[in-house]
Amino acid sequence: MSATQVSGDVSMDVTKLHIIHYPDPRLRQRAQPVTEFGAALRPLVEQMFALMGAGKGVGLAAPQVGVLKRVFVMNATGQPGDKRVLVNPTIREPSGSVEAEEGCLSLPAVNVQIRRAQRCRVVAQDLDGNPLELEVEDLVARACQHETDHLNGVLIIDRMGPSDRIATRKTLRALEDQFRTGTKAAH
Ligand code: NI
Repeated sequence: MSATQVSGDVSMDVTKLHIIHYPDPRLRQRAQPVTEFGAALRPLVEQMFALMGAGKGVGLAAPQVGVLKRVFVMNATGQPGDKRVLVNPTIREPSGSVEAEEGCLSLPAVNVQIRRAQRCRVVAQDLDGNPLELEVEDLVARACQHETDHLNGVLIIDRMGPSDRIATRKTLRALEDQFRTGTKAAH
């Protein structure tokens, strides 16, 4: 097995992964729990960090690269020390409520107002399967909720309000056309 292969149920060359766009049906599926950690998971996670950085995102979930596993990467500040890997995450004790603009690397040019909990706990595992618990708030809490949504097949367009629904209609239709005709250059 080469360094670029992920072991387990699906063996893959992670260098071939790319960010998939709405309305790819893989974005709508519930991802499966991760059961293999460490060396089995690292190539996927490194490739996700690379794709997230190239797209200037603050978070990226595995379903966004077509891998239906419950893992996301996050870097809220862009600093190397703030890289986070969250495996099998669950959101606990959400509190507060704040609305802010969100985008998504799987929905290019779609920016919508989303109301989310201002703070929460995230109970997860790290890359090696060790228990991990974070108390998060504001942007990081928002990113954790957004990425956990991806693991459940939920997108920001499911949570937007009526005015954004109207404002994004043309952009979404264009993405649907691109997906249907396969004209997206990067794919
Ligand atoms: Ni997203």
